[in-house]
Amino acid sequence: MIKWGILGAANIARKALIPAIQRTEDSEIIAIASSSGKEKEVQQQFGIEKAYGSYEELLQDSEIEAVYIPLPNHLHKKWVFEAAKAGKHILCEKPASLTHQDVIEMIEVCNENHVQFLEAFMYQFHPQHHRVKELIAEGEIGEVEYLRASFSFSFDRSKYNIRLDKEKGGGALWDVGCYGTHTAINLLDSDPIEHTVKSSLDDEYGVDVTSLVTLRMENGTMAQVDCSFNAPLRHQYEVLGTKGSIQIPFAYRPDANDHKGVIKVSNQDGSYEETIIGDQYKLQVETFTKAIKQNESLKSYHDKTLENIKLLEQLYKY
Ligand SMILES: NC(=O)c1ccc[n+]([C@@H]2O[C@H](COP(=O)([O-])OP(=O)(O)OC[C@H]3O[C@@H](n4cnc5c(N)ncnc54)[C@H](OP(=O)(O)O)[C@@H]3O)[C@@H](O)[C@H]2O)c1
Repeated sequence: MIKWGILGAANIARKALIPAIQRTEDSEIIAIASSSGKEKEVQQQFGIEKAYGSYEELLQDSEIEAVYIPLPNHLHKKWVFEAAKAGKHILCEKPASLTHQDVIEMIEVCNENHVQFLEAFMYQFHPQHHRVKELIAEGEIGEVEYLRASFSFSFDRSKYNIRLDKEKGGGALWDVGCYGTHTAINLLDSDPIEHTVKSSLDDEYGVDVTSLVTLRMENGTMAQVDCSFNAPLRHQYEVLGTKGSIQIPFAYRPDANDHKGVIKVSNQDGSYEETIIGDQYKLQVETFTKAIKQNESLKSYHDKTLENIKLLEQLYKY
């Protein structure tokens, strides 16, 4: 049983990760820490044994083996360093950090301290994407030409939101565009070598609220990624090949669709649909705890994290 601590009473921790960790067989959350006095509330809500009033105190708890870091993007690096030095394995929210150099250093400090590190791009653990890779490899859509990915939504602007706070790594690309760019690297199995980006910036906050990105990948394929805070909820991608296409309409939050992923294939032989169920947040935790227990390398995930952050850092040079 891996014993976990959670750094911060973040929305995503309460809505997705704490319940997901509690759904697994081999993990137990034994502590929550809040820097703003919410630790007791979360402790009660989820029946967690210990509640700390600071992240430092939680990291000093020698019973804790792994931590989940759901802090604003600009704090990921600091707390990955602190947690690694305290000997904790780390599941850190996306984007891992805001510069490529930061992530290099974060992975290094984890390696030096013999702890596992994983950026929490949960979508990649849903089995629908493995099936897409299989279909592509089987030649179902011919030679892959390009991928289009979209993640947009809107939220209540009357309340403070870290997504609009430039100092904390706010902006649509850092928040949701990063899924599309990660998907391009992951699904096209190649690294971007050329890019263009157009963004519209929020008048009040100065962060990008809508961004449109094009990519040329090393293997000759291309991608288009769009993201927005000012559009209806869409989280989908499409892979287009010389003989057909594959559409994934619930690409990033299939948990909001009863965990159901849907794969729509169209090719010269006609069209068909497959439904694949998977609990992506739980599968992410299980992948991570298996790596801890079996001392497995997570380098293939690190490589995608590094490529993605390198690209995003470039895209933000507008
Ligand atoms: N994988 C996913 O599905 C997913 C979905 C949404 C968000 N995320 C990622 O998760 C992270 C958190 O997002 P969220 O929407 O959950 O954010 P949030 O609700 O605003 O939570 C962030 C938490 O960080 C702590 N915090 C510490 N210092 C802070 C500061 N200076 N300003 C603001 N908060 C501070 C606070 O917890 P305490 O006050 O309790 O210490 C706060 O509750 C981000 O990196 C985001 O990209 C991932």
